[in-house]
Amino acid sequence: MIQAIYAGSFDPLTLGHLDIIKRGANLVDKLYIGVLLNETKNSYMFTVDERINHIKKVTKNIKNIEIITFNGLLLNFVLENNINFILKGVRNTTDFDLEMNMSMAIKMIDENVETLFIPTDKKYMCVSSSIVKQALKYNGDITNFVPKEIKKDIETKYNGGIKYGQI
Ligand code: PNS
Repeated sequence: MIQAIYAGSFDPLTLGHLDIIKRGANLVDKLYIGVLLNETKNSYMFTVDERINHIKKVTKNIKNIEIITFNGLLLNFVLENNINFILKGVRNTTDFDLEMNMSMAIKMIDENVETLFIPTDKKYMCVSSSIVKQALKYNGDITNFVPKEIKKDIETKYNGGIKYGQI
């Protein structure tokens, strides 16, 4: 059984994340989605439960995924759960440098752990959680950045007072 994990903060989940989840799930028997827990209170726009609910809402038709949370080293979860590889989406050379470095650091700890990079779909090259927050801040339309099922929720939370830059 081939198992992989795709991890992130998902604050909020974007169409780019969802694309990697769908394509990753097609490659394996089981894909874990690892949601990074809040390390310091108030450092995220959404609580971990809200971020998990967003992922659940948009992945309900994907049968071979399981959402988990982790703190600190993703590697520990990988080693404890017979994960075959860590899946990373790569949008550009900045992502590549960062993820290459991370994969090397992981290999310094355990040389058997593999990282698989999937190039982003070209539609989502500029899409990131930070861009979503920036668009919200200046009343930009986030339709092309986030899944339609969670768009309203993201806008409502923002308009309800959780402002990026103030948290
Ligand atoms: O969505 P983000 O915030 O870019 O996600 C970052 C995440 C969780 C994917 C990144 O921080 C990560 O890969 N953390 C794993 C840390 C780890 O296991 N390091 C091992 C080598 S020291």
